[in-house]
Amino acid sequence: MLSIKNISKSFKQRGTVLDNLCLEVEAGETISIMGPSGSGKTTLMNIIGLLDKPDSGDIFFKGGSIANFSESESAAYRNLNIGFVFQDHLLLPYMNIHQNIFLPMLATKHSKIRLSDKKLYINELMIRAGIYDLKNKYPSQISGGEAQRVALVRALVNKPSILLADEPTGSLDAKNAESMGELLLEMNKEYSMTLILATHSIDIANKMSKKLHLVDGKLISE
Ligand SMILES: Nc1ncnc2c1ncn2[C@@H]1O[C@H](COP(=O)(O)OP(=O)(O)OP(=O)(O)O)[C@@H](O)[C@H]1O
Ligand SMILES: [Mg+2]
Repeated sequence: MLSIKNISKSFKQRGTVLDNLCLEVEAGETISIMGPSGSGKTTLMNIIGLLDKPDSGDIFFKGGSIANFSESESAAYRNLNIGFVFQDHLLLPYMNIHQNIFLPMLATKHSKIRLSDKKLYINELMIRAGIYDLKNKYPSQISGGEAQRVALVRALVNKPSILLADEPTGSLDAKNAESMGELLLEMNKEYSMTLILATHSIDIANKMSKKLHLVDGKLISE
Protein backbone atom coordinates (compact mmCIF):
# COMPACT_ATOMS: atom_id res chain seq x y z
CA MET A 1 0.00 0.00 0.00
CA LEU A 2 2.82 2.36 0.90
CA SER A 3 6.26 2.05 -0.57
CA ILE A 4 9.10 4.27 0.52
CA LYS A 5 12.08 4.12 -1.78
CA ASN A 6 15.48 5.42 -0.82
CA ILE A 7 14.45 8.60 0.89
CA SER A 8 17.10 10.85 2.37
CA LYS A 9 16.68 13.89 4.54
CA SER A 10 19.22 16.15 6.14
CA PHE A 11 18.99 19.33 8.15
CA LYS A 12 21.57 22.12 8.27
CA GLN A 13 23.66 21.82 11.45
CA ARG A 14 22.48 18.28 12.11
CA GLY A 15 23.45 16.68 8.77
CA THR A 16 21.93 13.45 7.47
CA VAL A 17 18.96 12.14 9.45
CA LEU A 18 17.42 9.69 6.97
CA ASP A 19 19.86 7.99 4.63
CA ASN A 20 18.46 6.12 1.63
CA LEU A 21 15.74 4.71 3.84
CA CYS A 22 13.34 2.13 2.44
CA LEU A 23 10.08 0.82 3.88
CA GLU A 24 7.31 -1.34 2.46
CA VAL A 25 3.97 -1.19 4.24
CA GLU A 26 1.17 -3.67 3.58
CA ALA A 27 -2.44 -2.71 4.18
CA GLY A 28 -3.58 -3.56 7.69
CA GLU A 29 -0.09 -4.05 9.10
CA THR A 30 1.00 -2.82 12.52
CA ILE A 31 4.54 -1.47 12.51
CA SER A 32 6.57 -0.11 15.39
CA ILE A 33 9.52 2.18 14.85
CA MET A 34 11.95 2.43 17.72
CA GLY A 35 15.16 4.37 17.95
CA PRO A 36 16.93 6.80 20.25
CA SER A 37 15.84 10.38 20.60
CA GLY A 38 17.02 12.30 17.54
CA SER A 39 17.28 9.23 15.31
CA GLY A 40 14.65 10.59 12.92
CA LYS A 41 11.37 8.89 13.84
CA THR A 42 9.33 12.09 13.74
CA THR A 43 11.10 13.21 10.58
CA LEU A 44 10.07 9.94 8.91
CA MET A 45 6.46 10.17 10.15
CA ASN A 46 6.22 13.74 8.87
CA ILE A 47 7.49 12.66 5.47
CA ILE A 48 5.01 9.76 5.28
CA GLY A 49 2.21 12.18 6.21
CA LEU A 50 3.48 14.72 3.66
CA LEU A 51 4.01 17.33 6.35
CA ASP A 52 7.61 17.45 5.19
CA LYS A 53 9.45 16.53 1.98
CA PRO A 54 12.45 14.25 1.56
CA ASP A 55 15.53 15.69 -0.16
CA SER A 56 15.59 12.70 -2.49
CA GLY A 57 13.85 9.39 -3.00
CA ASP A 58 10.24 8.57 -3.78
CA ILE A 59 7.07 7.55 -1.97
CA PHE A 60 4.32 5.51 -3.59
CA PHE A 61 0.83 5.25 -2.15
CA LYS A 62 -1.42 2.64 -3.76
CA GLY A 63 0.93 2.59 -6.73
CA GLY A 64 1.15 6.33 -7.45
CA SER A 65 4.05 8.59 -6.61
CA ILE A 66 3.16 11.16 -3.96
CA ALA A 67 6.58 12.61 -3.15
CA ASN A 68 6.17 15.59 -5.44
CA PHE A 69 2.61 16.49 -4.53
CA SER A 70 1.78 20.21 -4.32
CA GLU A 71 0.59 21.73 -1.03
CA SER A 72 -3.06 21.25 -1.95
CA GLU A 73 -2.54 17.72 -3.24
CA SER A 74 -0.69 16.89 -0.01
CA ALA A 75 -3.52 18.32 2.07
CA ALA A 76 -6.09 16.28 0.15
CA TYR A 77 -3.98 13.12 0.56
CA ARG A 78 -3.73 13.75 4.31
CA ASN A 79 -7.43 14.41 4.77
CA LEU A 80 -8.45 11.28 2.90
CA ASN A 81 -5.79 8.83 3.91
CA ILE A 82 -3.81 9.78 6.98
CA GLY A 83 -4.67 10.06 10.66
CA PHE A 84 -2.16 11.55 13.07
CA VAL A 85 -1.76 11.06 16.80
CA PHE A 86 1.08 12.92 18.49
CA GLN A 87 2.72 12.78 21.91
CA ASP A 88 0.68 15.77 22.97
CA HIS A 89 -2.99 15.51 22.21
CA LEU A 90 -3.24 18.99 20.58
CA LEU A 91 -6.94 19.29 21.38
CA LEU A 92 -8.30 22.80 21.01
CA PRO A 93 -8.93 24.17 24.51
CA TYR A 94 -11.93 26.33 23.64
CA MET A 95 -13.86 23.50 21.99
CA ASN A 96 -15.51 20.67 23.88
CA ILE A 97 -14.61 17.03 23.21
CA HIS A 98 -17.45 16.52 20.77
CA GLN A 99 -16.47 19.61 18.77
CA ASN A 100 -12.80 18.61 18.79
CA ILE A 101 -13.66 15.19 17.42
CA PHE A 102 -15.88 16.50 14.66
CA LEU A 103 -13.32 19.09 13.58
CA PRO A 104 -11.57 16.99 10.87
CA MET A 105 -14.91 16.52 9.13
CA LEU A 106 -14.93 20.20 8.27
CA ALA A 107 -11.76 19.74 6.23
CA THR A 108 -13.10 17.01 3.96
CA LYS A 109 -15.16 18.15 1.03
CA HIS A 110 -15.82 14.73 -0.39
CA SER A 111 -16.74 12.53 2.48
CA LYS A 112 -16.17 8.84 1.99
CA ILE A 113 -19.30 8.06 3.98
CA ARG A 114 -22.70 9.72 4.39
CA LEU A 115 -23.16 12.11 7.27
CA SER A 116 -25.66 9.97 9.19
CA ASP A 117 -23.44 6.91 8.83
CA LYS A 118 -20.52 9.02 9.91
CA LYS A 119 -22.23 10.12 13.10
CA LEU A 120 -22.98 6.49 13.95
CA TYR A 121 -19.39 5.55 13.21
CA ILE A 122 -18.02 8.34 15.41
CA ASN A 123 -20.35 7.48 18.27
CA GLU A 124 -19.16 3.88 18.00
CA LEU A 125 -15.53 5.04 18.05
CA MET A 126 -16.17 7.17 21.13
CA ILE A 127 -17.85 4.29 22.96
CA ARG A 128 -15.03 1.90 22.06
CA ALA A 129 -12.46 4.42 23.28
CA GLY A 130 -14.41 4.91 26.52
CA ILE A 131 -14.81 8.65 26.02
CA TYR A 132 -18.46 8.94 25.01
CA ASP A 133 -19.49 10.31 28.40
CA LEU A 134 -16.85 13.04 28.14
CA LYS A 135 -18.26 14.61 25.00
CA ASN A 136 -19.53 17.78 26.66
CA LYS A 137 -16.39 18.40 28.69
CA TYR A 138 -13.47 20.61 27.71
CA PRO A 139 -9.89 19.34 27.27
CA SER A 140 -8.81 20.97 30.56
CA GLN A 141 -11.47 18.91 32.38
CA ILE A 142 -10.23 15.47 31.32
CA SER A 143 -7.14 13.41 32.16
CA GLY A 144 -4.07 12.98 29.93
CA GLY A 145 -5.00 9.39 29.10
CA GLU A 146 -8.53 10.42 28.20
CA ALA A 147 -7.22 13.28 26.06
CA GLN A 148 -4.99 10.87 24.11
CA ARG A 149 -7.99 8.61 23.47
CA VAL A 150 -9.95 11.63 22.23
CA ALA A 151 -7.02 12.52 19.95
CA LEU A 152 -7.08 8.96 18.59
CA VAL A 153 -10.80 9.10 17.86
CA ARG A 154 -10.32 12.46 16.16
CA ALA A 155 -7.55 10.95 14.01
CA LEU A 156 -9.93 8.19 12.88
CA VAL A 157 -12.91 10.38 11.99
CA ASN A 158 -12.15 10.41 8.26
CA LYS A 159 -11.45 6.65 8.19
CA PRO A 160 -7.78 7.01 7.26
CA SER A 161 -6.09 4.02 5.67
CA ILE A 162 -2.91 4.81 7.62
CA LEU A 163 -2.70 5.92 11.22
CA LEU A 164 0.60 7.59 12.11
CA ALA A 165 1.11 7.59 15.85
CA ASP A 166 4.21 9.46 17.03
CA GLU A 167 4.94 8.47 20.62
CA PRO A 168 1.24 8.56 21.52
CA THR A 169 1.96 7.11 24.95
CA GLY A 170 5.01 9.25 25.70
CA SER A 171 3.21 11.49 28.16
CA LEU A 172 1.15 8.75 29.85
CA ASP A 173 1.72 6.63 32.94
CA ALA A 174 2.23 2.87 32.52
CA LYS A 175 -1.42 1.93 32.95
CA ASN A 176 -2.75 4.55 30.53
CA ALA A 177 0.04 3.77 28.08
CA GLU A 178 -0.96 0.12 28.05
CA SER A 179 -4.62 0.83 27.46
CA MET A 180 -3.75 3.31 24.71
CA GLY A 181 -1.59 0.64 23.05
CA GLU A 182 -4.44 -1.84 23.25
CA LEU A 183 -6.90 0.68 21.85
CA LEU A 184 -4.60 1.36 18.88
CA LEU A 185 -4.49 -2.35 18.10
CA GLU A 186 -8.25 -2.71 18.52
CA MET A 187 -8.83 0.13 16.06
CA ASN A 188 -6.38 -1.47 13.62
CA LYS A 189 -8.30 -4.76 13.76
CA GLU A 190 -11.79 -3.35 13.82
CA TYR A 191 -11.41 -0.78 11.05
CA SER A 192 -8.50 -2.45 9.20
CA MET A 193 -6.35 0.64 9.32
CA THR A 194 -2.63 0.35 8.95
CA LEU A 195 -0.76 1.46 12.03
CA ILE A 196 2.72 2.99 12.03
CA LEU A 197 3.81 3.74 15.55
CA ALA A 198 6.95 5.51 16.75
CA THR A 199 7.57 4.54 20.34
CA HIS A 200 10.16 4.26 23.09
CA SER A 201 8.09 1.53 24.76
CA ILE A 202 9.35 -2.00 24.17
CA ASP A 203 6.10 -3.40 25.64
CA ILE A 204 3.97 -1.61 23.06
CA ALA A 205 6.40 -2.31 20.21
CA ASN A 206 6.23 -6.02 21.07
CA LYS A 207 2.52 -6.05 20.30
CA MET A 208 3.02 -4.93 16.68
CA SER A 209 3.28 -7.33 13.75
CA LYS A 210 6.50 -5.77 12.45
CA LYS A 211 9.21 -4.25 14.64
CA LEU A 212 11.69 -1.84 13.10
CA HIS A 213 14.59 0.16 14.48
CA LEU A 214 15.81 3.42 13.03
CA VAL A 215 19.59 3.22 13.09
CA ASP A 216 22.01 5.50 11.24
CA GLY A 217 19.21 6.82 9.04
CA LYS A 218 17.96 3.39 7.97
CA LEU A 219 15.28 0.99 9.17
CA ILE A 220 16.38 -2.45 10.25
CA SER A 221 13.98 -5.19 11.30
CA GLU A 222 14.30 -7.01 14.57
N1 LIG B 1 12.99 21.22 11.17
C1 LIG B 1 14.19 20.84 11.60
N2 LIG B 1 15.27 21.65 11.46
C2 LIG B 1 16.50 21.26 11.88
N3 LIG B 1 16.75 20.09 12.46
C3 LIG B 1 15.73 19.24 12.64
C4 LIG B 1 14.40 19.57 12.22
N4 LIG B 1 13.59 18.53 12.53
C5 LIG B 1 14.37 17.61 13.10
N5 LIG B 1 15.65 18.02 13.17
C6 LIG B 1 16.80 17.24 13.71
O1 LIG B 1 16.77 15.96 13.10
C7 LIG B 1 17.08 14.94 14.04
C8 LIG B 1 15.95 13.94 14.09
O2 LIG B 1 14.86 14.52 14.76
P1 LIG B 1 13.49 13.74 15.01
O3 LIG B 1 12.57 14.68 15.66
O4 LIG B 1 13.04 13.12 13.74
O5 LIG B 1 13.97 12.60 16.02
P2 LIG B 1 13.09 11.54 16.82
O6 LIG B 1 13.65 10.20 16.52
O7 LIG B 1 11.65 11.77 16.53
O8 LIG B 1 13.42 11.91 18.34
P3 LIG B 1 12.47 11.80 19.66
O9 LIG B 1 12.50 10.37 20.06
O10 LIG B 1 13.15 12.68 20.64
O11 LIG B 1 11.12 12.31 19.29
C9 LIG B 1 17.36 15.66 15.35
O12 LIG B 1 18.75 15.81 15.49
C10 LIG B 1 16.67 16.99 15.19
O13 LIG B 1 17.32 17.97 15.93
MG1 LIG C 1 10.02 12.35 17.70
